[in-house]
Amino acid sequence: MSGIADMFDPQQFRESGHELIELLADHLAANLQGRGKVINWRAPLTEDRHWQQPLPQTATLSPTGLLKKLHDDILPAGLAIHHPRNLGHQVATPLPMAALCDLVAALTNQAMAVYESGPAATLIERQVIRWLAELIGWNHAEGVLTSGGAQANLTALLAARQQKAGWNVWKEGVASGPPLRILASEHAHYSVARAAGIMGMGVDAVVKVAADDLGRMDVAALAKAHRQTEASGARIMAVVATAGCTPTGSIDPLAEIGVYCREHGLWLHVDGAHGASALLSDSYRGLLRGIELADSVVWDGHKLLYMPATVSAVLFKNPEHSYAAFAQEASYLFQSGDHEAEAFNTSYRTLECTKRMMGLKLWAAFSLYGTEGLGGLVEQVFATARLLAKKLSAAADFELLMPPQTNIVCFRYGSGDQSALRKKLVESCAFHLTQVNLNGEVWLRATVMNPFTAESDLDALLEAIRKNGSQV
Ligand SMILES: Cc1ncc(COP(=O)(O)O)c(C=O)c1O
Repeated sequence: MSGIADMFDPQQFRESGHELIELLADHLAANLQGRGKVINWRAPLTEDRHWQQPLPQTATLSPTGLLKKLHDDILPAGLAIHHPRNLGHQVATPLPMAALCDLVAALTNQAMAVYESGPAATLIERQVIRWLAELIGWNHAEGVLTSGGAQANLTALLAARQQKAGWNVWKEGVASGPPLRILASEHAHYSVARAAGIMGMGVDAVVKVAADDLGRMDVAALAKAHRQTEASGARIMAVVATAGCTPTGSIDPLAEIGVYCREHGLWLHVDGAHGASALLSDSYRGLLRGIELADSVVWDGHKLLYMPATVSAVLFKNPEHSYAAFAQEASYLFQSGDHEAEAFNTSYRTLECTKRMMGLKLWAAFSLYGTEGLGGLVEQVFATARLLAKKLSAAADFELLMPPQTNIVCFRYGSGDQSALRKKLVESCAFHLTQVNLNGEVWLRATVMNPFTAESDLDALLEAIRKNGSQV
């Protein structure tokens, strides 16, 4: 039986920590070199049987046994996120140094609800928020880090509602005024509709605005939806533009939408969870022209900022708006009554009370590599996506949906069942790809997240699709 002192033994931590880093460094090296499987595909129901053990009453593993289990069973059964042939989801290939910072966050457990539960963590987060705001082109913006873009979108939309509804929805509830609506592209992330559901407005409160052939919100359709919504007696609480929409990575025309919203007094929220990182690149920053016209922006660190999950930022151009989402009083937490000091208590602005020290890894990455280094990662994967698109266009047996605007490439192979083809490819363990339904058709979807995905990997992908495609 472990004594309490053993459970916290610093020497054990030191020894196991060294071994763990050895193990993870080997895992990282193998992944980056493309050794081994991208995904060790096994059906979840079969795999689940291995995890049906009785609740341990006493220790069933030693620290060495834990490391062995990681090495033998757990790491090999994961998705090899650093593998150059992992082209699946929009999940960062995390920077190893950022991962080390996450270990610091875990051990030091800076709860961050109020300043005194994480002083350095709070100040680092504020620094990171200022840096992200500066990249957007905002001088005095404020915001917070949240656990994920979905929560960040909810936070921004709560603030928008509080500002634009015309009554105190936080206090009086949603039924005390006319119906509220959100206008968003048909390709907006599902978290926008989910936010509407959570906010008690119903998911139908999101009015879908048509997109053009390149997946970008049609501004004429936005104006029409605006007129029709107001004519129906409903009130618009926000327009959501997406910078890097989930299905195709397309970027809504932010400048035109921004001007339109400004002219009509509408709150513009830009969901830049995926694409805001293009701001780091001299070559691609122009894609986000107009983002500075937004009232709020969401930006995921665990996508193209190369952070381990989770870390997202919700930023408000007007610092006061950063308090609009949650107006609740909790006197046991917030005691001073001094507004300036209270600004350091992050709970005023987040759904989360206790939250992880998320800023450290971002601060470290900016400090270690600068915008130049991080921008270089974005440029690399955007260029690889363009190369993939070029190869697909040149191949008679493939069809490219559209030229990629970011790092997502949608395409089809032949005329067969694309879902069956994808399943076969993923189950072959050699590549990871996703798929998307657009206009009633299934398209294969490659997201180039890994800066080490090389031209030879793209050629191998096309060949693997041909081989698997001929069998479905
Ligand atoms: C455009 C967009 N917004 C929001 C989200 C949700 O972000 P998260 O997964 O960090 O909650 C995603 C996730 O893929 C996304 O693509």
